[in-house]
Amino acid sequence: MGRRQELEKRQTLLSRFGRLVATENRLDALLTIIAEEVRNILDVDRCSVFLVDAYKGELWTKVALGMEEKILRMPLGQGIAGFVAKTGSAVNIRDAYRDTRFTQDLDRVTGYQTRSVLAVPLKGRDSKALGVFEVLNKNKGSFTDEDEGLLRILATMAASFIENATLYDDLRRSHLETIYRMALVAEFRDQADTGQHLRRMSRFCGILASAMGMSYQESEDIRYASPLHDIGKVAIPDAILRKPDKLSPEEYEEMKRHTIYGSQMLVNAESRLLRLAARIAVSHHENYDGTGYPYALKGEGIPIEARIVAVADVFDALVSKRVYKGAWTHADALAYIKAESGKRFDPLSVEKLSECFADVVTSMEEENRRSGGDEGGFSFSPQNGRFADRPPHI
Ligand code: C2E
Ligand code: SIN
Ligand code: SIN
Ligand code: FE
Repeated sequence: MGRRQELEKRQTLLSRFGRLVATENRLDALLTIIAEEVRNILDVDRCSVFLVDAYKGELWTKVALGMEEKILRMPLGQGIAGFVAKTGSAVNIRDAYRDTRFTQDLDRVTGYQTRSVLAVPLKGRDSKALGVFEVLNKNKGSFTDEDEGLLRILATMAASFIENATLYDDLRRSHLETIYRMALVAEFRDQADTGQHLRRMSRFCGILASAMGMSYQESEDIRYASPLHDIGKVAIPDAILRKPDKLSPEEYEEMKRHTIYGSQMLVNAESRLLRLAARIAVSHHENYDGTGYPYALKGEGIPIEARIVAVADVFDALVSKRVYKGAWTHADALAYIKAESGKRFDPLSVEKLSECFADVVTSMEEENRRSGGDEGGFSFSPQNGRFADRPPHI
């Protein structure tokens, strides 16, 4: 290829890179796109983006291990990436294994063999050290000054998008955490296994929603909003909420108001998730045949998300011990729910529960193995676990 053509090709690749990184605001997906594009542009075998976790004093990166993705961490200052992050200068190495800065730590985990390395710092606004851009094993020859210039340009282009995505991610995570902690408030007074019922039913809801053909985003939304379904119980007096016996008819009438209280607490929220939570809170005790409360809605008149939550909530309530009742077996609970298909419950939700029953039981056992009711038990990660060990402070 002539010099001119090469420059033109580079221009094309750079503008494509700019377009692609600009369209993604999720950090996880963004890092994948960046790594993939940079690999092509520089004709290298690998591209790793290391990000600074200032809180922990570490650099972390995401690596593919077979089918899985894993977050690997190393102390700031260690390794080649650590050196670049600390000094802010670029590093160009022909043979990593002969460089004393190289620790082989990552290669040992990934089984990869690093040869040549070109690494440049990733700087955010105000020259804040965001991380390190590293390309490994150039396919032809060793890295040139021109490669370094190109990698610096790509790093500059990527930096502001990474910074934005990081902020966005942080915001999203604190939003989800706040929702979950709000939900814990209601649960805290109600049940001994604080948090576990919420985590289990939130997972059931996610499983059911995707089995019903809802989009990934919709299922995730239901999963995150569902823990708030009983938030209205914070307004129910202890004498009723914690009564060890059957409620009197008057007490039960007051208890039923937790649906209305919940929707009053959440109504007109700006957040999409909180508005969804409001619909779930008010309608999760409606019955498919119109015999439920508070509004005796019927069939498709009940929001689909509330029909899903109803099945998940009752299933989990049945198999759990409550102050007023013992725990049922899984089989009994499923049999009850099936018998109530088309009466209390939406037939489609019941059908999907039966179909996914093995998944539901597995996820239940997983949640039960987790310790106590601390928020650490709640995973803010999508169902496929892509964000599973995302560091909380980047
Ligand atoms: P919860 O304990 O979270 O139960 C949620 C729903 O699961 C109940 O909604 C009910 O539909 C179902 N469920 C729970 N246990 C049983 C059971 O033993 N048999 C059957 N057939 N269904 C069951 P529900 O009935 O509208 O109650 C809403 C909330 O009112 C309950 O939430 C609980 O906090 C409270 N509650 C209901 N009954 C009693 C009671 O007898 N004593 C006390 N202390 N609280 C009760
Ligand atoms: C790197 O910094 O490139 C990898 C870490 C190491 O093994 O030195
Ligand atoms: C009640 O009447 O107390 C509710 C019974 C139940 O569904 O658990
Ligand atoms: Fe409820």
